[in-house]
Amino acid sequence: MIVLPAIAQNAVDQAYLESLSQRFALPLGDKAVGWYLSWHEERLVLRHTELIKQSDILVDFASGSSSYRRQHGGGKSEAIAKAVGLHKKRDLTVLDATAGLGRDGFVLASIGADVTLVERNPMVAALLVDGLRRAGLDPGLSEWLPDRMRLRFSSALDALQQSESVDVVYLDPMFPERQKSALVKKEMRAFHDVVGEDPDADQLLEPALALATKRVVVKRPAYAEHLAGTKPSHMVKGKNNRFDVYINAAL
Ligand SMILES: C[S@@+](CC[C@H](N)C(=O)[O-])C[C@H]1O[C@@H](n2cnc3c(N)ncnc32)[C@H](O)[C@@H]1O
Repeated sequence: MIVLPAIAQNAVDQAYLESLSQRFALPLGDKAVGWYLSWHEERLVLRHTELIKQSDILVDFASGSSSYRRQHGGGKSEAIAKAVGLHKKRDLTVLDATAGLGRDGFVLASIGADVTLVERNPMVAALLVDGLRRAGLDPGLSEWLPDRMRLRFSSALDALQQSESVDVVYLDPMFPERQKSALVKKEMRAFHDVVGEDPDADQLLEPALALATKRVVVKRPAYAEHLAGTKPSHMVKGKNNRFDVYINAAL
């Protein structure tokens, strides 16, 4: 739900939140229980009524960590860039079929990829829309990001079956947390709470391989088995994860 209390202080904010409510079928109200979206300092944020100490969750492409990743090494040397193939060819088209908060998608777009984000969770999709809106107002991002990144609010399966072909399909489905892992950041735990598990993740590999002309890249925790039990062509090790790469054709 989107909480609309004294938050919408002017008609423009109010109309904007109403449009998000309609687009994502999120009810508007003035009280929530559990996870809800709120309007804070002109940004859409995700909060929990009981978790007062939890910091706001939002999509912020201009944030310190996003721009740090972009500015230091331009992201090109990152494992994700190598897995996708952007170190060899900059202007690949990528369907990021499990977009989440769009962080990986942003890294890929900032190196040169044309990225379509696909997200099925309405609250997460609304956060992405708001992040993209603010990116369009940011002097450092507005010139390139809106041209290189867009959102499709749908299930990955629909997107994979209906999209025009792309060079690369990128998948990063939720993976069951290791119990009480201290490594799982607070925000990630919260995110797990909101979107739950992705029990259908294995079903995405086959249509992804059918759509991608060049390759499919699957992000996995280092300890996880391969998606759909299918061995990749090769793996790229990241700091905390690995990327399983399934090659369809050379870049
Ligand atoms: C682990 S998060 C992705 C994080 C993302 N790579 C990032 O950098 O922010 C997985 C996301 O994929 C979404 N998702 C999972 N399965 C999906 C599906 N079948 N269709 C659409 N979205 C899906 C979940 O709702 C969740 O937001």
